[in-house]
Amino acid sequence: MRTVDTDVLVVGAGPAGLTASALLARQRVDAITISRHPGTAHSPRAHITNQRTAEVFRDLGLEPRLRAVATPNHLMGNNVWATSLAGEEIARLKSWGTGVDRAADYAAASPCAMCNAPQHLLEPVLLEGAAENGADVRFSTELIDIAQTEDAVVARVRERTAGAEYTIRARYAIGADGGRSLVADRAGFALDGEMGLGAALNMWLEVDLSRYTAHRPGVLYWTAQPGNNYWVGSGTWICVRPWTEWVLLCMYDPTEGEPDLSEPAVVERARASIGDPDVDVRVKDVSKWQINRVVATEYRRGRIFLAGDAAHRHPPANGLGTNTSIQDSFNLAWKLGMVLRGRAGEGLLDTYDAERRPVGRAVVDRAMRSVRDMRPIPDALGFYPGQTSEDGWAALHELFSDAEGAADRRRALDEAIALQNYQFNAHGVELGQQYSSDAVVDDGTPLPEPLRDPELYHQPTTHPGAPLPHAWIQRGAQQISTLDLAGGDRFALIVGSGGGPWVAAASAIARETGIDLPVRTVDYRGEYHDVLGRWRRLREVGDDGALLVRPDRHIAWRSFDMPESPRDALRAALLQVLSRG
Ligand code: FDA
Repeated sequence: MRTVDTDVLVVGAGPAGLTASALLARQRVDAITISRHPGTAHSPRAHITNQRTAEVFRDLGLEPRLRAVATPNHLMGNNVWATSLAGEEIARLKSWGTGVDRAADYAAASPCAMCNAPQHLLEPVLLEGAAENGADVRFSTELIDIAQTEDAVVARVRERTAGAEYTIRARYAIGADGGRSLVADRAGFALDGEMGLGAALNMWLEVDLSRYTAHRPGVLYWTAQPGNNYWVGSGTWICVRPWTEWVLLCMYDPTEGEPDLSEPAVVERARASIGDPDVDVRVKDVSKWQINRVVATEYRRGRIFLAGDAAHRHPPANGLGTNTSIQDSFNLAWKLGMVLRGRAGEGLLDTYDAERRPVGRAVVDRAMRSVRDMRPIPDALGFYPGQTSEDGWAALHELFSDAEGAADRRRALDEAIALQNYQFNAHGVELGQQYSSDAVVDDGTPLPEPLRDPELYHQPTTHPGAPLPHAWIQRGAQQISTLDLAGGDRFALIVGSGGGPWVAAASAIARETGIDLPVRTVDYRGEYHDVLGRWRRLREVGDDGALLVRPDRHIAWRSFDMPESPRDALRAALLQVLSRG
């Protein structure tokens, strides 16, 4: 059988695999990406694209293209609960940082706004980025088997069109092959959690809902029809393209039988949930998927890594599926690049598990809690399984009446809706991923105490392991973000006005280690001008201090001021991070 050699085999060309592919290609790493499907996702699937993920697109130079295919943040804001789209509106929550009380938090935290980019629109952007970087992406190529020895990963693959099989031998492999990962299975990864917690039906529809949505623009509309209460209501409308293309998502219990997927049945279900028996509905696609709650107990076994759904699966609450998958690859790709170029020791690769597995665990737990936290809504409405439609309507009418106890029920409803902030405005969950590993040099200081609820609010810090805080600064006539000073597969050293000795230290160490180490001086004047003074308030180090920022824009190390030998201090930090002890 033919054998092809490469440095990295990426199995899967979904959000995780394509991100890895684009980032590896940009580093000129020899890599092959395979997908058993003939192309990128053919249906919308996940859609919420949070600020951290948009920052990955920014790093890849793809942010404008992401914006071009996405529904913008200002049209995402209304989370609506109603008996049907045409029916009674029960509650509304300003979401995804669009409320007056949250907009400033979101704007201050990142140069990138959150947006809504369904997967079939998002993946081609990543694929274009990968192709432009020269990535070798092979569709219709299925992994049949994978095994590893001490010095290689050996995969048997089949070209599905021609039927030919060949072997790919790689130094490392990334299993980004989704929720039924063959890589995880064959390489012996164990999963902790439960599969098959529920089933979901995605119905992708063309239907003009402008008259029900344009005056309250949003990307999620929850219908809870009296007498039809399974789990989170009778159907959720997810905006694909405002306001004419949608996914109607329904949960169902497979033990009670599979849903009727025929076109008339889907159209009828959609019309009932819209509350308009005559509206034109065209069915584009119907797919079923499972709700799981699992995290791999290891993200690395030998030369094989897991990323994305292969490593963690959870309900769509909080919209973290594709986001976490893309961010996994952003963490892993630069590490592989450094090790393969001989710039870092193998130990750097262990930090992927140390940094990303806790994130995966936290994401799964948060998503599960968010699902449970939706239960108080039907409770407050007086809806329960098995209830007749008449009883459901009676409970609803009573809720909004002056009947005894109704005021308490309304308060319960308000509280139930407020609880949804942990799903739809959970800025701390979305942005606050803090790493602790050997690729971060602990400076002995405690993490700053959260000033507000850490799940709802992101608190920027330059504590080692934290994401680099964003501040707008000026470069000539151009406004840029401090995030633009770092990334691009390179480390960066950010210093202030008194940072002259750091410049000399960094160039000496760059020569010594072969590590590219640009120094960015952010000060009152100079190339990067902190005109607003915001960076000075965020940086937590003195004018003569320094921040060493990793290629994934997390803080690797910081110095509060000028040490006796900046060169020795910087060298020690960089060598530790790179596992070159
Ligand atoms: P993803 O599953 O996207 O990609 C896996 C890749 O691996 C594909 O390219 C596939 O071809 C490839 N592959 C698999 N086995 C292979 C093999 N043996 N050989 C070669 N290639 C192989 N989430 C959410 O938050 N909200 C939602 O509404 C939905 N809806 C939804 C609907 C449907 C139908 C699905 C399948 C999934 C969802 N999800 C979702 C989940 C969401 O899509 C998921 O979290 C991300 O796609 C995960 O991205 P990954 O890149 O990890 O895997």
